Amino acid sequence: MERNSKIYVAGHRGMVGSAIVRELQRQGYTNIITRTHAELDLCRQDQVEEFFEKERPDYVFLAAAKVGGIIANQTALADFMYENMMLEMNVIHAAWKNGCKKLEFLGSSCIYPRLAPQPMPESCLLTSSLEPTNEAYALAKISGLKYCEYLNKQYGTDYISVMPTNLYGPNDNYHPTHSHVLPALIRRFHEAKEAGFPTVTCWGDGTPLREFLYVDDLANLCVFLMNNYSGSETVNAGTGKEVSIKDLTTLVAKVVGYEGEILWDTSKPNGTPRKLLDVSKAKGLGWQYSTELEEGIRLSYDDFLNNPMRAER
Ligand SMILES: NC(=O)c1ccc[n+]([C@@H]2O[C@H](COP(=O)([O-])OP(=O)(O)OC[C@H]3O[C@@H](n4cnc5c(N)ncnc54)[C@H](OP(=O)(O)O)[C@@H]3O)[C@@H](O)[C@H]2O)c1
Repeated sequence: MERNSKIYVAGHRGMVGSAIVRELQRQGYTNIITRTHAELDLCRQDQVEEFFEKERPDYVFLAAAKVGGIIANQTALADFMYENMMLEMNVIHAAWKNGCKKLEFLGSSCIYPRLAPQPMPESCLLTSSLEPTNEAYALAKISGLKYCEYLNKQYGTDYISVMPTNLYGPNDNYHPTHSHVLPALIRRFHEAKEAGFPTVTCWGDGTPLREFLYVDDLANLCVFLMNNYSGSETVNAGTGKEVSIKDLTTLVAKVVGYEGEILWDTSKPNGTPRKLLDVSKAKGLGWQYSTELEEGIRLSYDDFLNNPMRAER
């Protein structure tokens, strides 16, 4: 990308999209275009085509999506499939039709098979059954990723994808039932501290192992890949380090300053037992994460405290 290339970041008010905009600005890119959901509904083919015909961006980061935690994914199955499938197809297709030089699609490590080898290499995509709790989301995401691959094969485009692990950081979603584990814990412990609750009950038994990447590190990788990677196979984005939900919980309680007891509700689902990405491909390309978990949680908690509206999302 040239510093004055026209770059469209789809989903710029979300956690990933806003981090990509920050990173692009930090690196001196000056011609970034954005549209809010209200200005441009990416599920509407007519609106998306009109936008691309008018703006003709050189580069596109596709960070818009309907995302959510376990409950949202299990209950709004049809919405997750329809909205993600529609917006991906509309944006990727319109980008291609209007001469976009390069597009980067945001996948997610949760679309790898439930029983994938650990750590999960990029090559394990579609090698066995999906995690049932987010199958609809995964099928939509896999379709977007594959559509990029098929355009590359059929029309010689240079459309790439990145597969992030669990993300956290500024602009995260702290909704009580529709958020991911780390922001949910930040909110839960913050509220318990404020209210003086003697105990906090967390979901599952605390044994699942997870990996977390600070979103600004992901954004740095996204820009790096746009400039340095071509190929249809996705690139995993993670730290390569895992932490148990129990240890994560203790760390969040420490950062937030909650001193009560932590209990476990084993009637609630654990999700996949272990989820760790093989990050050797990104490392081989010359990229490495830089924000350690405790530092990232501190930065996220500061963002939570300084942006009261975030807690209402
Ligand atoms: N968060 C994670 O832990 C994580 C992990 C791995 C991968 N990812 C991937 O990263 C991408 C972005 O996730 P995120 O966490 O940044 O999500 P997010 O914070 O919810 O942001 C998504 C953005 O997309 C916008 N959007 C959704 N539907 C739209 C539509 N029909 N038209 C226009 N805009 C629309 C949303 O706008 P509104 O809010 O106004 O609807 C929001 O600004 C997704 O592809 C996700 O799969 C995220």
